[in-house]
Amino acid sequence: MSVRLARQYPALLALLAQLLATLLIAVLVYLAAHFSTWRPSVLAAGLAQGVLAAGLARGLGLSRWWCALNLLFAPALLLASGSALPSWVFLAGFVLLLLLNWNSVSERVPLYLTAAPARRELRGLLEQQPAEFRFVDLGCGPAGTLLNLARQFPQAQFVGVETAPLSFALAWLRALPVRNCQIRYENLWRCDLAAFDVVYCFLSPAPMAELWAKARGQMPAGSWLLSNTFEVPGVPADEQIELHDWRKSRLLLWRMPG
Ligand SMILES: C[S@@+](CC[C@H](N)C(=O)[O-])C[C@H]1O[C@@H](n2cnc3c(N)ncnc32)[C@H](O)[C@@H]1O
Repeated sequence: MSVRLARQYPALLALLAQLLATLLIAVLVYLAAHFSTWRPSVLAAGLAQGVLAAGLARGLGLSRWWCALNLLFAPALLLASGSALPSWVFLAGFVLLLLLNWNSVSERVPLYLTAAPARRELRGLLEQQPAEFRFVDLGCGPAGTLLNLARQFPQAQFVGVETAPLSFALAWLRALPVRNCQIRYENLWRCDLAAFDVVYCFLSPAPMAELWAKARGQMPAGSWLLSNTFEVPGVPADEQIELHDWRKSRLLLWRMPG
């Protein structure tokens, strides 16, 4: 139950962990002030809150990434509020994160990037395609992986779709000099997958069932759906490549039946 909630609403569970941890630490500090001479510093209380929030997040089934965020959130806030940075820096940081992670609330897909081992394996897989294949990265981020592949396979056509404004702008600018790569400001749910031989995605568990239904409805027989790490519930992949990293990532490949 909590694992399912963690997959569907990680931000809400992380917030719950933060609130519970803050409440518990506040009660502890209050009791200490009334019944003992122990007075923890604000930073010590913040650190304890972080450890507790991370533990609660883990207990609620959140991933390590969310636990790390829970661990660092309050201490970072306390450190930053004690620094002499002007307030616009915090606003700018917030806006920057928002423009990069536009889809993390509505789509439950934040920005993280395909790592070098996954890129290597992707290249190996794409070598099996005829030279002029068509490839789309659904949610291409700043397009590092897409551009890397486009340079490796100059006869193939590469498309990236993205709706986080800053990621899109970066990807679009970076793709300008790359002849066989096009970046579109387009929601992945509006992208017609019938036009591609290979569809790549690195999203989150949340959209995978719906994406599978879309892929089955649109992708031609023999084309490939490739997912970095995230499985389609109830549909075993035709091929799995372990990437042996700390995230236990793997590439999952489904060949579309006729
Ligand atoms: C985990 S990142 C992967 C980035 C890139 N594909 C890579 O592998 O390095 C997922 C990306 O999908 C984008 N995204 C999420 N939902 C989307 C949607 N509905 N339409 C377009 N892009 C979306 C996010 O903004 C984010 O940049």
